[in-house]
Amino acid sequence: MTVPAQRAPQRTATPLHVLMCPPVHFEVAYAINPWMVGQTIDPVLAMHQWEGVRDAYLALGHRVDLLTPVAGLPDQVFAANGAVVVGGRGYGAKFRHPERTGEEQPFADTLARLGVRDLRRPEHVNEGEGDFLYMTDELLLAGYGFRTSREAHAEAALALGVEVLSLELVDPRFYHLDVALMTLSDDAVAVYAPAFTAQGLADLRARVPHVVEVAEADALVLGLNGVSDGRHVVLEEQALGFQAQLTALGFVPVPVPTSELRKSGGSVKCCTQELRGLPAVVADVA
Ligand code: ARG
Repeated sequence: MTVPAQRAPQRTATPLHVLMCPPVHFEVAYAINPWMVGQTIDPVLAMHQWEGVRDAYLALGHRVDLLTPVAGLPDQVFAANGAVVVGGRGYGAKFRHPERTGEEQPFADTLARLGVRDLRRPEHVNEGEGDFLYMTDELLLAGYGFRTSREAHAEAALALGVEVLSLELVDPRFYHLDVALMTLSDDAVAVYAPAFTAQGLADLRARVPHVVEVAEADALVLGLNGVSDGRHVVLEEQALGFQAQLTALGFVPVPVPTSELRKSGGSVKCCTQELRGLPAVVADVA
């Protein structure tokens, strides 16, 4: 007698509204994380790969808005770092490294134009959605240890009216939470467990019903730096083991190549700021 295979749950997609920045001025001009050391970018391939990420969102029916690229800001393509937006409210970024602080003002201006209310300019160092990951309208997961300061977690909780679960990061290759953890749905995350402390993992498991562990090989191609709409997961194409795990869980992997972006320590999610709770149309006041 054969045992029937366990059915994966039916997953439901939610439309996303995202903000991205074309990599017009993208290069590795300095090294502020281990992935950047000794790298040279192929700008044509980088643009092609970025367009692949954007086109994946458009094909899934998501809305994509664009930041205007500014010369001299080579990491601006990593739009996730510019803020966190939940329920139409925003908490702005304050970058750890002076090389990226020039990104703050253009980002804030763009969010205002898109209808973000009450953008809180932070006192404490934080790198937006690089270290703050959305679980639900009530809960964010937040990383600290390399970029975002722990004090910023409380500041974000207050600014956005949410609870924040703090998780310490311990491996410099996984310097932002969004390269060590991906939120898949409102009750599931995927993690590279060695990037966290035992305490962090215990706290995460106490709060999130499903914590899926991925292999080192998938984490090292930044497979966790993807974006889920609750059903489709756009992620680096080389994260094959993780894609098989996702399929078994009822998700639909949407693999894209991001090798040029990874040379700077980022992949799909880093290029994607998610805007939650904004008006569909904003009156143009210009
Ligand atoms: N080169 C950038 C930096 O080190 C990469 C940022 C990646 N962004 C992210 N959300 N993890 O700051």
